[in-house]
Amino acid sequence: MAHPQLVFSGMQPTNVLHLGNYLGALKNWVKLQDEMPCLYCVVDMHAITQDTGYRHPKELAAATREVTAAYIAAGVNPNKSILFNQSRVAEHAELAWVFNCVGRLGWLDRMTQFKEKTGKHKERASVGLYTYPLLMAADILAYKGTHVPVGEDQRQHLELSRDIAQKFNSDYEVPDFFPLPEPVITGAATRVMSLRDGTKKMSKSDESDYSRINLTDDTDTIAQKIRKARTDPNPLPDSEEGLEGRPEAENLINIYAALADENRASIVARFAGRQFSEFKNELADLSVAKLQPIAAEMRRLLADPAEIDRILVSGAEKARALAAPIMAEVKQIVGFVS
Ligand code: TYM
Repeated sequence: MAHPQLVFSGMQPTNVLHLGNYLGALKNWVKLQDEMPCLYCVVDMHAITQDTGYRHPKELAAATREVTAAYIAAGVNPNKSILFNQSRVAEHAELAWVFNCVGRLGWLDRMTQFKEKTGKHKERASVGLYTYPLLMAADILAYKGTHVPVGEDQRQHLELSRDIAQKFNSDYEVPDFFPLPEPVITGAATRVMSLRDGTKKMSKSDESDYSRINLTDDTDTIAQKIRKARTDPNPLPDSEEGLEGRPEAENLINIYAALADENRASIVARFAGRQFSEFKNELADLSVAKLQPIAAEMRRLLADPAEIDRILVSGAEKARALAAPIMAEVKQIVGFVS
C-alpha cells in the first residue's frame, strides 16, 4: 500500500538560524509546500537535550518564537502548511516512548552526531541527547510522514527512522503500518561548511560567530563575514574538478549556487580564473539581496509575539487532529488498554 505523501521537518530552537539551516533545509521546505501537504515543527523538546536549551526557559521560549518567525519570513505559509511547536502535541512524546522500546542500544551507539556532540564526555550527556533520534522518528511517524527535507547531516538519523518504522511494523505484525520516510536532501548546498574552516560544518554551536552567517545578521556583518571567510591563495578554478581538495572554495561556490538557484557548473564557469576578492564581493551582494528581506520580515513578525503564538496554537490543533488517531491505533497495536 502506498502511503499518501506528507512532508515533515523541524529545526531546533537552540540559537538563531544560520545560512546552513536556510540552504540545507528551509529553502526546500518552501518549495515542497506546492507539491504535497507539509508539517513544519519547531522542535523545542529536542532543544532541552543539551545545555544550550536546558534550564534557560526564557531563552528557549524566545528562540521558539524566533525560529517560527524565520520559517514564515523565509516563505513557509502558515495558511498552507501546518506550523507548530513540538511540545504542544503530546503524541510526539507518547510515540517516542514506544520507539524507545523498539529501538536498540546498538543502533543509537552508531549515531555519529551523538559522538560529535559529546566528544570524550559521553557519561555527562543527557539520556535525552542519546535517544534524540527516536524522538525524531516519532516526530515524523506520528503523522506517517513520507518525505523529510533536511541537510546532509541528518541522513543517518533518517535511516534510523526507517529502521524504527520497519521494526515496529514487523515486531507487531502490522506490515506497512508506518511508511519508511524518505530523506529529501537537495540543492547545491546540502552541507554548508564553516566560513573559518572548510572542513567543518557551519553550526550554531561554533564559538566563532565569523564561522556562520545568521539569518538576522545585518548588511555590514554579512559583507564582513564573507570578506573575512578563509580561502586559499589561488584564483577560482575553471572546472568543478578543480574544486577538489579546495574545501573553502567549494563551499563558497556551493553557497553562491544555492542562493542564486543555479547549478554549480554555471557558477564555476562564470568565475573561472577570477580572484577570490572579486568573487567575494559578488557573493556578499547576493547574500545581502537574498537574506536581508528575510531578516526584515523576521523583525516585523517578532514585533507581534502574540500573533506568532496564535499561529503556533492553531498549527498545534491541526497537527494534533492528524496525530491523535494514529497514536490511538498505535496504542491498540501495542496492547495499551484505553
Ligand atoms: P537542526 O536544528 O540541527 O538543523 C535544522 C536543519 O538544518 C540543516 N542544517 C544544515 N544543512 C546544511 N548545512 C549545514 N551546515 C546545516 N546545519 C544544519 C539540518 O540538516 C536540518 O535539516 N534533528 C534535527 C531536527 C529534527 C527533525 C525532526 C528534522 C527533529 N525532529 C524530524 C526532520 C524531521 C536537527 O537537530 O536539526
